[in-house]
Amino acid sequence: MEPKEWLKWICSSRDLDELGKNYDQWSDKYEADVSQLWEAVPRTAALMLSKYIDDKQSLILDFGAGTGLVGVALAALGFEQIVGMDISPGMLTIAEEKGVYSSLICGSIGDEQLRNLDQVSGIIATGVFAENHAGSAELSKLQEIIKPEGILVFTVRQSFLPELYEVLNQPEWTLLDSQVMPIYDDPIQLLGYKASKPLN
Ligand SMILES: C[S@@+](CC[C@H](N)C(=O)[O-])C[C@H]1O[C@@H](n2cnc3c(N)ncnc32)[C@H](O)[C@@H]1O
Repeated sequence: MEPKEWLKWICSSRDLDELGKNYDQWSDKYEADVSQLWEAVPRTAALMLSKYIDDKQSLILDFGAGTGLVGVALAALGFEQIVGMDISPGMLTIAEEKGVYSSLICGSIGDEQLRNLDQVSGIIATGVFAENHAGSAELSKLQEIIKPEGILVFTVRQSFLPELYEVLNQPEWTLLDSQVMPIYDDPIQLLGYKASKPLN
């Protein structure tokens, strides 16, 4: 598929269940389809996270891990405790083959059975905050599992960013870093935030 086709197709999934099934169906072609356009994004995001987290034993959550491109980039930078989470078992099967995750969780952050996740020092999410994927509700849930002073790095297309302001504009979040990656007509923002004070 061409970039415009897959972006339109995947973002038109009606709910999380259909989205997961669509990613399952796409999983074996995902990396080939996105490679040229997307290649630099997981790597640049991992680099941004590593600028703010020195301890490579820190627990990092790769939210919307997909086929594991971010995990591979984090592992190349020395991170050893990476938990991947995704709603698509098909994508996670490929992520597992990368051999870089300490554990993989099938589900989304709001799911009841995932309530007992350990608090994490860093969260990274590339290509996940988007139409019919994850939004401010998921971001709020992520806020509950990040340690005070924890780092959140994520991508979002410019047009979707206002959907996240109700969370990002809360005093708990401090913007640390931003980069624009003009890979679509609607540019990708790569943002780094710190959870700046203890959260309840
Ligand atoms: C565009 S892919 C990005 C995958 C990977 N982060 C990358 O950069 O290649 C988006 C992934 O997020 C997952 N996803 C979307 N919404 C999600 C949600 N609410 N909770 C967990 N995973 C989600 C999808 O199943 C898919 O694997």
